[in-house]
Amino acid sequence: MFTQRPSAGRLRGRLGELKSVVDLLDSVATGHGAILLVDGAPGIGKTRLLAAAEDRARHHGFSLARAHADELPRPLPLAPLFSGLDLAPPGGTQARAPATQGQMLACLEKLAVHTGKLAARGPVFITLDDVQWADATTIAALRALPTWLAEYPIGWVLVRRTGPRDPPIDWLFGEWEHLGAPRIALGPLADDAVADVIADVLRARPDSDLLAMAHGAAGNPLLVRALLDGLRDEGGVAIAGGRARLLSGQPPGQVREVVHDWVMRLSPTARHLCDIAASLDRSFAVDDVAGLLGWPNEQVQPALQEIVAADLLITVEKDVLAFHHELVRQSVADRVPAAVRLALRGQVAGTRRLSTALAAAPMIDRRREGAAARSRVKVHHPLRWVDECADRPQRAAEGWDGLTGTERTVAELVTQGLTNREVAARIFLSPHTVSFHLRKVYRKLGIRSRVDLTRASLHRERELRSADDLTARALM
Ligand SMILES: Nc1ncnc2c1ncn2[C@@H]1O[C@H](COP(=O)(O)OP(=O)(O)OP(=O)(O)O)[C@@H](O)[C@H]1O
Ligand SMILES: [Mg+2]
Repeated sequence: MFTQRPSAGRLRGRLGELKSVVDLLDSVATGHGAILLVDGAPGIGKTRLLAAAEDRARHHGFSLARAHADELPRPLPLAPLFSGLDLAPPGGTQARAPATQGQMLACLEKLAVHTGKLAARGPVFITLDDVQWADATTIAALRALPTWLAEYPIGWVLVRRTGPRDPPIDWLFGEWEHLGAPRIALGPLADDAVADVIADVLRARPDSDLLAMAHGAAGNPLLVRALLDGLRDEGGVAIAGGRARLLSGQPPGQVREVVHDWVMRLSPTARHLCDIAASLDRSFAVDDVAGLLGWPNEQVQPALQEIVAADLLITVEKDVLAFHHELVRQSVADRVPAAVRLALRGQVAGTRRLSTALAAAPMIDRRREGAAARSRVKVHHPLRWVDECADRPQRAAEGWDGLTGTERTVAELVTQGLTNREVAARIFLSPHTVSFHLRKVYRKLGIRSRVDLTRASLHRERELRSADDLTARALM
């Protein structure tokens, strides 16, 4: 039931959060169930905190069950709980998804009986990471099981990544909060904790340039780690005499990879807007971006809300937003060719100069003149580049049906993380032929890399993912 996680470095900061964990353990030690909710932005340190909580629980003599939901849905509902508790579902691991409410209840009963037996032997600590990806039945179970087992010494910790509204998960967390479960909204690391992480990773005191760049992570530990590991591994920092000197003003590749992953989770529309905004400045006026895109307010606002929910933008004042992390802005801007960025900035500056001139001049109909002149100023070619990139994963997911059988097999094995050589061995082809098929897959899907391919596969999986919803709703 328990396997060691890979070492993740020292936990810094988070004293208040660890106190909540210890309170939970104390409460469970009195012989009753208790539940703790944790949520926070991508990369904010949820899994690391969970690992520290599990260490504490083990230290206090709890037996551990770690469950996590996968982004790629598993075929069987409740799979996260069955595998976290090291338990086979009724009918074994090859069992089909329960089709009726009765079969579903039998599954829940098996989980409850097993967990109850464990807890009869001593306190149990059950964690579920990445609840945002849990299937609907698991979500229903996370509401039912702790209630059924309330008289057993079981501590539950449910962790989710915040993002766009997700009614079932909002419902689950809302229900438990309403019933009195404490909730930790995990925020950024404080400056002194970031300084400790720098010292842990580089074993040197940072110079002011490096500190300023680390400040661009806005306390997000994943960004801080990607920055430090990236600078160290990619030669972006010189370490001598206990001092770390920044050698490059560019974020390292590791930061760009993290940011790429976050941005690719946005809808094509939001991603499009993000690229444009990042090309301007750290903070920007909504009007400027809307003007560049030529989008009406009804299109701009949902896209902005989506990017804010993903923690990439924050509201500075009415109609002015800013990138939450300068490192993210820089990395997103790097996705846009420099000539396009320049053209976009020039366009906004031109529009502003024009507005100022119009305000000063005694025009008869300023609004009409302004609009006409603004459209004359508009440079169309920079946006064409962004347009081309915006809906690539969606188009790619749609193109999946056009793949031949071999191409689809190659694509699926590659998205599982296999190298071309491993794919070749698996399907008895030469690596050269695999590479040939993969190039055809890229061309047909209109993508350029394995990362794009994984994204496209996820996109497609998500669309296919709803089979168990009806049964689960019956349990809510
Ligand atoms: N308090 C901390 N002190 C030191 N390092 C930390 C801390 N919190 C997180 N880290 C490190 O930052 C990185 C990201 O943390 P983690 O994976 O826990 O984030 P997360 O919130 O779970 O991300 P995701 O949303 O992708 O699941 C990891 O390398 C982790 O070890
Ligand atoms: Mg995590």
